[in-house]
Amino acid sequence: MKLQILVVAGDGIGPEVTGEAVKILKAVGELGGHDFTFREALIGGVAIKAKGTPLPAETLDVALESDAVFLGAVGGNEFNSLPPDRRPEAGLLQLRQALGGFANLRPSFAYSALTQNSPLRPEVVDGADILFVRELLGGLYFGEPRAWDREAGSAWNTMRYTREEVIRVARIAFELAGKRRKKLTSVDKANVLEVSQLWRATVTEVAQQYPDVTLEHQYVDACSMHLMNTPRNFDVVLTENLFGDILSDEAAVITGSLGMLPSATIGGQVNLYEPVHGSAPDIAGKGLANPLGAILTAAMLLRHSAGLEQDAVAVEEAVKSVLMEGYRTADLARGQQQNVLSTKEMGKQVYR
Ligand code: NAI
Ligand code: MG
Repeated sequence: MKLQILVVAGDGIGPEVTGEAVKILKAVGELGGHDFTFREALIGGVAIKAKGTPLPAETLDVALESDAVFLGAVGGNEFNSLPPDRRPEAGLLQLRQALGGFANLRPSFAYSALTQNSPLRPEVVDGADILFVRELLGGLYFGEPRAWDREAGSAWNTMRYTREEVIRVARIAFELAGKRRKKLTSVDKANVLEVSQLWRATVTEVAQQYPDVTLEHQYVDACSMHLMNTPRNFDVVLTENLFGDILSDEAAVITGSLGMLPSATIGGQVNLYEPVHGSAPDIAGKGLANPLGAILTAAMLLRHSAGLEQDAVAVEEAVKSVLMEGYRTADLARGQQQNVLSTKEMGKQVYR
């Protein structure tokens, strides 16, 4: 297996957590005799300081030549006075756009059952394992026309999808469901929105090509309740951009900590892997960051870019073992004084 990985660690805790994730990837590569090569490039605030722009041309060039891009986080308080298009975050938005991924994968696994830091009761949440597939390039966030007419005192956005946009993301969701528990929940608001009627009809059509996967439809309002009441009933959840943004954040309470959430964006020219959290300036440079979100993101890279499912599972199982044994970073410890580890110590526990 040959894979060229670009690491853009970025700002704040980005380099700290990315360092631990890369150690895991290197270990998997060496153990399995795979040819993983790593290159590094600048993005975000560090790129602004060195090159005057949050996404230097050379970073983008190398990214487009790579098989996968692994990003830490971008952003920092010192840049908050800059206009939005010159801030570190603009570099990430440009990178996402250039790589072209339209399927954003966000797993919600009940690690909180091990760390006891979910507001949901253990008997509700224990065993939950949901994979959100959120359409990322269409819908309300990109639809035209959009405007705020200040004089008229009105504003509008457009929720628009084409059949092709729904088909391509639905295929990815069905493929993934076929490799999991073979259940797909498509979420829409087809009782009110024409876009959702197109969505539902198209997903139903695509389902005919995946007879081994059970398809169900839920309205987004009902789904938001079912996610909290019966999270174990879900396997893969397929939904459009806005609904996916909201539902995947809601379902993050199943996982327990922001520092534990991985993500991948696939379907474009190059897959992009990033933990969900930001640069956490409040704890940056102190060795307090939880690297498990980044490490679980590395597992997603092994699964979706390297095709190394067994290694991905091994990394995820190692994370579970470490938590089961009581090891915690500060964000998970909540005053319990048991085995509170630094970023590097936590990485080492997973690696051992
Ligand atoms: P944040 O995710 O950086 O931090 C929110 C809270 O969670 C903080 O208290 C932080 O200490 C904690 N936290 C986050 N990740 C953690 C980890 N791995 N371990 C332990 N604790 C963790 O979000 P915030 O504070 O809203 O944004 C900070 C900066 O990051 C801003 O400049 C923002 O624009 C940027 N940001 C970047 C993202 C990205 O690069 N993908 C995503 C979200 C925010
Ligand atoms: Mg969001």
